Amino acid sequence: MQDLPTLITERLVLRPFALSDAADVQRLAGDRAVADTTLNIPHPYPDGAAEQWISSHVACFQRREIMTLAITLRASGELAGCISLRLNDTHNRAELGYWMGVPYWNQGYCSEAARAVIAYGFEQMALNRIFAHHLTRNPASGRVMQKAGMAYEGMLRQHAKKLERYEDLAIYGILRSEYQNQ
Ligand SMILES: CC(C)(COP(=O)(O)OP(=O)(O)OC[C@H]1O[C@@H](n2cnc3c(N)ncnc32)[C@H](O)[C@@H]1OP(=O)(O)O)[C@@H](O)C(=O)NCCC(=O)NCCS
Repeated sequence: MQDLPTLITERLVLRPFALSDAADVQRLAGDRAVADTTLNIPHPYPDGAAEQWISSHVACFQRREIMTLAITLRASGELAGCISLRLNDTHNRAELGYWMGVPYWNQGYCSEAARAVIAYGFEQMALNRIFAHHLTRNPASGRVMQKAGMAYEGMLRQHAKKLERYEDLAIYGILRSEYQNQ
């Protein structure tokens, strides 16, 4: 059975989460600014939730549901964020998702991580398509998708409901054939 990979880029190490990351996950993902533009992060972030989430990663990957990796800084080893591919074997595609801790925003880290995970998805997992959504009021996430080589595919109106408010989502994607031609 395949293990979660470790991917190394110029400035980052993307590696499996360890239980020892739980306090940092709670601190970083627990920031209101991170929860505000994601659909699955609770706020306030409950005690014990990070441990439970991290403990699920190996089994979820081995069931080919989701590959979740910690984004860490190569220079210091500190945890900066999270990136994932939610797999769909039927359609041979995956959905890219990510968050970065606020102190690490706007330094190009998430784009660097996204490029590495997309390369892994096409080159090692033989995917045909990788797509991602972002709230239209979160243009920074759209920039990450653009910088990772994804193309804008459209807008899903009021597709999500967050805190009693309907949110429009932009959708981006990249196909295997486009990745090969980059
Ligand atoms: C979205 C997020 C992951 C981006 O991470 P990051 O490491 O800061 O991303 P990068 O530095 O690689 O790229 C961010 C880009 O957005 C741009 N940007 C930032 N704020 C922006 C804004 N308000 N409007 C337009 N562009 C913006 C930055 O300038 C940068 O683009 P550039 O390199 O062309 O200048 C981070 O802001 C985050 O975790 N937000 C909260 C959680 C979240 O929204 N996750 C995504 C859910 S879809």
